[in-house]
Amino acid sequence: MRLPVIAGNWKMHKTASEAAAFVDALRPTAERALNREIIIAAAFPALASAVRAADGTNIRISAQNLHWESQGAYTGEVSAGMLTAIGCTHVIIGHSERRQYFGETDGTVHLRTLAALESGLTPIVCVGETLDQREAGHTETVLREQFTAGVGQLETVQFEQLILAYEPVWAIGTGRTATPEIAEASHKLLRSLAVGRFGASAAAAVRILYGGSVKPSNFGELLTCENIDGGLVGGASLDPDSFAALVRT
Ligand code: 13P
Repeated sequence: MRLPVIAGNWKMHKTASEAAAFVDALRPTAERALNREIIIAAAFPALASAVRAADGTNIRISAQNLHWESQGAYTGEVSAGMLTAIGCTHVIIGHSERRQYFGETDGTVHLRTLAALESGLTPIVCVGETLDQREAGHTETVLREQFTAGVGQLETVQFEQLILAYEPVWAIGTGRTATPEIAEASHKLLRSLAVGRFGASAAAAVRILYGGSVKPSNFGELLTCENIDGGLVGGASLDPDSFAALVRT
């Protein structure tokens, strides 16, 4: 049985005080949602206050990126140890916006994932094809490459610690959610890649989240798919009522 995950990715939204107010508003819903893992990925300056607000609840706080070195001359970067020191438990790695705007590659996804795991953070590793890649019929090749180069070199015990997220780039922020059939086909492929590399038991246990225009109105149907184990939600995670509705789905 895979515990479904509802993860909000706030991207570059919400100050420290806004984050704390959101977590306070979510608390009653979260307390009743014992069959869900709830994660909020806040921007760096809001992480500490989100962690404090979530203290004693089942809400976990995630960063949206990290550097693979533990310290050093890397202006503007944040290390895994800095995140665990303030109480973060998760970190998003390889989001398509990082790939598109900040030069993230499968190679750096691998390094960041290793650094997160070594510090005890749970990586949420994102993969997904662009519209051009899908229309050219390359979805399977792209997902295979991103999986193999991003997480395929891990040890099985390391792979067992992470969460995968399938986020088709054409569905992010566009209102164009993947149909359950399209999403399930990609999730099934990712799980079969995991079987091939890490074995049936690790593959059966790994949670694979869907992300891309998830809303309370479409999430229920996506969650009924055999290989969809939750959502990584952008826009609909910013409002506490809408995020609470997703948690209750
Ligand atoms: P939207 O839910 O806004 O489409 O964003 C999805 C996403 O990128 C989550 O990481």
